Amino acid sequence: MPESERLRIIENARIAEGSFRLTLSLEGASASAFRPGQFAEIAVPGFSLRRPLSFCGWDGGSVSFAYTVRGEGTAALSRMNEGELSVILPCGNGFDAKKGLSAHSVLVIGGGIGCAPLMPLIKELKALGAEPVAVFGFRDRSQTLFREELEQLGVRAVFAYDSEGRTAVSAMKDEGLDGLYFFSCGPAPMMRALCEASQAPGQCSLETRMGCGYGACMGCSVRLRDRMARVCKDGPVFEKEEIVWQSLL
Ligand SMILES: Cc1cc2nc3c(=O)[nH]c(=O)nc-3n(C[C@H](O)[C@H](O)[C@H](O)COP(=O)(O)OP(=O)(O)OC[C@H]3O[C@@H](n4cnc5c(N)ncnc54)[C@H](O)[C@@H]3O)c2cc1C
Ligand code: FES
Repeated sequence: MPESERLRIIENARIAEGSFRLTLSLEGASASAFRPGQFAEIAVPGFSLRRPLSFCGWDGGSVSFAYTVRGEGTAALSRMNEGELSVILPCGNGFDAKKGLSAHSVLVIGGGIGCAPLMPLIKELKALGAEPVAVFGFRDRSQTLFREELEQLGVRAVFAYDSEGRTAVSAMKDEGLDGLYFFSCGPAPMMRALCEASQAPGQCSLETRMGCGYGACMGCSVRLRDRMARVCKDGPVFEKEEIVWQSLL
């Protein structure tokens, strides 16, 4: 079992309706090997199973996560404003940002809180000289995340709202972005629709229920075209071509 570390809560602030940004101090731990798309297994006091949350950003002294309250564990987490958390990190393999770089423009497309791991990815793509275009979809305007951050990064960003009859995937088509290599994270039905609508290859970050979070229990196994894979250890990012959506929905 990988070692867990106790990381101090620096901030746990509301950033949209039902969503929070958790920032933890990295004293002792090192962010130098972190990759966009990797995640941490966070122990919320009072709950036996750790909760997986994707890295939303990091620097030399801290790592941050954006999360939506979904059940009791994330609700309890949202009420914690100080103290330490037991965390295992980094978990999984992240996005392979270099893969889409044969084209200058790449699409970064997310749904809801699935946009969180796409933020450090956008920074990495820019650092590699690519021009990422962000298409972020939310249920309604009150759930919008990362608008200011994308503006500060100078990235072309399209926001789509289900409540206004426009999804991330329909926005991608409307904007003529369906030929771009893509990186995606969001609800499985959204990413399945994306894979069907896009003419291009890409990578999707999958979400399954997890037990251990580090490859030991097989609880997160999914069927791919040619093999079984553990989302926590072999993923959570997989190539469009290898995903069997019927086994995930
Ligand atoms: C690789 C990965 C990265 C993730 N990154 C984020 C993120 O950045 N932000 C965010 O808001 N959410 C993220 N999630 C989903 C998040 O882990 C769940 O929303 C959270 O665990 C729900 O816990 P809960 O106690 O509130 O819900 P409950 O439904 O009460 O949880 C009950 C149990 O199921 C497990 N569980 C429930 N839903 C999920 C789920 N979707 N995935 C894995 N385990 C689950 C919990 O760990 C717990 O053991 C991620 C999931 C995965 C697999
Ligand atoms: S959650 Fe245990 S192997 Fe993936």
